[in-house]
Amino acid sequence: MGRLDGYAALVTGGGKGIGRAVVDRFVAEGARVCVLVRAQADLDDLVATHGDLVTGVIGDVRNWDDNVAAVAQTVNRFGKLDVLVPNAGVYDFSDPFESIQGADMTERYRQLFDVNVLGYLLAARAAVDELRKAEGSIVFTLSSSSYYAGGGGTLYVSSKHALVGTVRQLAYELAPEIRVNAVAPGGTRTGLGGLPGDERALADLDGFEAMVARNVPLGFLSEPEDHAGLYVTLASRSESRFVTSEIIRSDGGIQVRGRSRKKTKT
Ligand SMILES: NC(=O)c1ccc[n+]([C@@H]2O[C@H](COP(=O)([O-])OP(=O)(O)OC[C@H]3O[C@@H](n4cnc5c(N)ncnc54)[C@H](O)[C@@H]3O)[C@@H](O)[C@H]2O)c1
Repeated sequence: MGRLDGYAALVTGGGKGIGRAVVDRFVAEGARVCVLVRAQADLDDLVATHGDLVTGVIGDVRNWDDNVAAVAQTVNRFGKLDVLVPNAGVYDFSDPFESIQGADMTERYRQLFDVNVLGYLLAARAAVDELRKAEGSIVFTLSSSSYYAGGGGTLYVSSKHALVGTVRQLAYELAPEIRVNAVAPGGTRTGLGGLPGDERALADLDGFEAMVARNVPLGFLSEPEDHAGLYVTLASRSESRFVTSEIIRSDGGIQVRGRSRKKTKT
């Protein structure tokens, strides 16, 4: 018996990284999963691995119609929607605030917030009727940057802080039918990418692994699979029936250590 036997889920950005690990784990626990992904190759790979236990829509989380299509695809293929995992995100590679020209701020803000915040709101809005019917739940991907400075730049950190409010307000408004929770990973070995035109990937950055290992009490860079079981726990009605507005940190224990100082006062 899997912990999610018979569940139908939708994961945005489920083709790579943490989202992919959640899809793999959900399937292993008995769920059928739809993804909203940008690349056909990601969907092809999922289908090659999991066959008709997965399906997907190629699209962009910033687009309302794509979110509606992903919910419809889930329900058409699997009959219902029990769990939504808004997860697709982009990073700002800790660009210092003062490196962003004032004239560029609006554009940069929109590029990042439209994926990291608006994309989550659109997914939740598109899914809410089906989640209510199924008495299901939302499990958002947040971040250690939802709590701490220094793990990203001002745009990324403020976008992830905004999602704490999103979890709380939706947990309040959508109860009692829909539970709303989140997992907040810390540094994870993924190809998390940046804004348009930025070819960098988080885990390829020189020193990233050592920096994370140095900064967390548990002393290592996590893998996407390290977080996936927590999504299962929060999604499961039997394991988390009385849990909403909870954010589980999966970050190596940053809260008992904090980050190192950025500059020393001279
Ligand atoms: N890697 C880390 O250290 C880390 C830590 C904490 C939180 N997170 C968060 O985890 C989530 C997943 O990131 P990841 O690290 O697995 O990186 P990833 O790049 O492997 O996964 C992100 C996915 O989002 C997709 N995506 C980006 N923009 C999109 C758009 N407009 N429409 C549809 N899909 C889009 C990408 O194609 C990719 O598949 C993000 O929200 C990220 O902020 C990552």
